[in-house]
Amino acid sequence: MKPYSKKLGKLPPYIFSIINILKKEAYSKKLDVIDLAMGNPDMPTPDFIIERLIDTVKNHPGTHRYPQAKGMPKLRQAVCNWYKKRFDVELNPDNEAIVLIGSKEGIAHLCMAYLDPGDIALVANPAYPVHLNGVILAGGKIHDMPLTAENRWLPDLTKIPEKVARRAKLMFLNYPNNPTTATVDDLSFFKEVIRFAKKYDIIVCHDNAYSEITFDDYIAPSFLQTTGAKDVGVEFYSLSKTYNMAGWRVGFCLGNSKIIAPLEKFKSFVDYGVPTFLQLAAATALNSSENVMKKTLEEYKKRRDKFCDGLNKLSFTVEKPKATMYLWAKLPEKFQKDGSLKFSEELIRKTGIACSPGTGFGKYGEGYVRFALVTHFNRFHDALMRLKKFMRG
Ligand SMILES: Cc1ncc(COP(=O)(O)O)c(C=O)c1O
Repeated sequence: MKPYSKKLGKLPPYIFSIINILKKEAYSKKLDVIDLAMGNPDMPTPDFIIERLIDTVKNHPGTHRYPQAKGMPKLRQAVCNWYKKRFDVELNPDNEAIVLIGSKEGIAHLCMAYLDPGDIALVANPAYPVHLNGVILAGGKIHDMPLTAENRWLPDLTKIPEKVARRAKLMFLNYPNNPTTATVDDLSFFKEVIRFAKKYDIIVCHDNAYSEITFDDYIAPSFLQTTGAKDVGVEFYSLSKTYNMAGWRVGFCLGNSKIIAPLEKFKSFVDYGVPTFLQLAAATALNSSENVMKKTLEEYKKRRDKFCDGLNKLSFTVEKPKATMYLWAKLPEKFQKDGSLKFSEELIRKTGIACSPGTGFGKYGEGYVRFALVTHFNRFHDALMRLKKFMRG
């Protein structure tokens, strides 16, 4: 058989596929797995959204036909209204908003729409994997922007060589950040990004998947709130975390119409978009004035406090995050030498606890592991007991 493409060969093994193999192995050994690896919300989608979906599928057979690839006007209007209400950002639903089969799809396809072989994308590292892999799949070249604890997990734009900046086409950013859980306090970093992007004619892609998963009175801004943001960029927004709708696959690309148009064109050749009944249910979610997240956030906060305190007592170093449903834990000194992948492999084999090694998010994630707070509160006590035993061993 002929080999698959060189582009695909350049991709590292997908970290969650490795973890899944280890999880399978653990299940087959009858281990009681505590799965804190993938950022896959465990709480259910709110009832009123589910009810709308059932009613639509059952009573409106027109919704069983091919959908409108760029998204129905009703859903594009709903997300624009939501952005106005939540962030005071004005968006034109006709050309400044398209619907995606989840942000992940849109990010990968935006890379395909923009990058030719050898084109440079500036990508924060560590990052949600598609920010890096989308560039590779498109044949582009990644220039890493390292995120470090010393710089509050923000990239230092002054470290990007002038020659690289001039050639770069795209820049990927994400705050609240996965995996580091970092947040921006105000718009000053985004202002700096916009100045940089204007100087070098770079398209900024801000991934805003976690703006609603926040705690302790922290309110996350949208990149698009920053003056001039729409001149240089777009924002990816997702219903996956906000409404516990990860499996429904609904996301958006919002902002500069000239940047969105090629993505829309690319998508029109490769997909038909989100099924209409899901789009209508998604519009219902966005149009609702119910505080649907209250219970979910209370639950995440309880889990965060319990597990974060426990990990720190076990000599991990973990800052209590103001946002996201992750903990980004620096490995204790004695595990640093072997690295995060070895730690994660040993941990699941010996304890049944699945976590994500920092290197799965890029080389600058080494030395850390990410725990996703996506299992029942009571399980965290058990997880800490098992970890305690593991650390002694
Ligand atoms: C930063 C970030 N962006 C996007 C996504 C995926 O969003 P979606 O489910 O809309 O594809 C995730 C999922 O974990 C994420 O962490």
